[in-house]
Amino acid sequence: MKIERLLRSVLRAVSEKRAGKMRNLFKRCASLMVAAIIFVSSVLGVGAFGHTFGGGEALAAELDAATRTIKANEQGETVTLPVEDFLLGRKKFNVACATCHVAGITKTNPNVGLDTESLEGAFPARDNLAALVDYLHNPTTYDGLVEISELHPSTKSSDVYPKMRNLTEDDLEAISAHILVMPKIMGDKWGAGKTKSL
Ligand code: HEC
Repeated sequence: MKIERLLRSVLRAVSEKRAGKMRNLFKRCASLMVAAIIFVSSVLGVGAFGHTFGGGEALAAELDAATRTIKANEQGETVTLPVEDFLLGRKKFNVACATCHVAGITKTNPNVGLDTESLEGAFPARDNLAALVDYLHNPTTYDGLVEISELHPSTKSSDVYPKMRNLTEDDLEAISAHILVMPKIMGDKWGAGKTKSL
């Protein structure tokens, strides 16, 4: 009996020691992981550490799920845009749209900007993903009465607007999503060229 008790306590001591070692090892791994994540995110400029570590992507900290959640269609369903799609949309927007729509304004028609208020007031309302993608296939005047694909870049008029040629349906969605996310990041500064008093 005595021997059994002795054996048991020795075993317990050994396993406790091992558990302690494992804990230490785990702690060391965890701090290494955190350091690695901080390093990678500061290099890529994504994630919550983008700001703190000055890694290129100044918007990263604002890109929480709520900011990336946008109206999907006129029924009011929502969709949460993956960060990669936001970055894709921004890139494509800058290439294909920013010459006329920098920071959400419309240079040649400041009253029809890409700000939420303008998009909501259009007919049909263009304040959701589906309606914006539709606009890029089938742009219309603000009142929805006249098709303007000869005057506005669209997939129909890629002969006149070659930048539209290589945009896939996914690109069009990402660009549209970008238009809907930006006012949530920039507030009133997105589309601020509009003459608000009109
Ligand atoms: C050559 C200049 C030009 C380019 C490039 C351009 N747009 Fe436009 N956009 C305009 C003009 C001008 C209007 C106003 C049209 C009107 O009179 O209704 C407009 C209107 C819009 C509207 C309607 C806004 C509202 O409040 O109803 C959307 C949406 C839009 N553009 C998206 C885009 C996107 C996305 C791209 C890039 C794929 C793009 N535009 C490229 C000039 C341009």
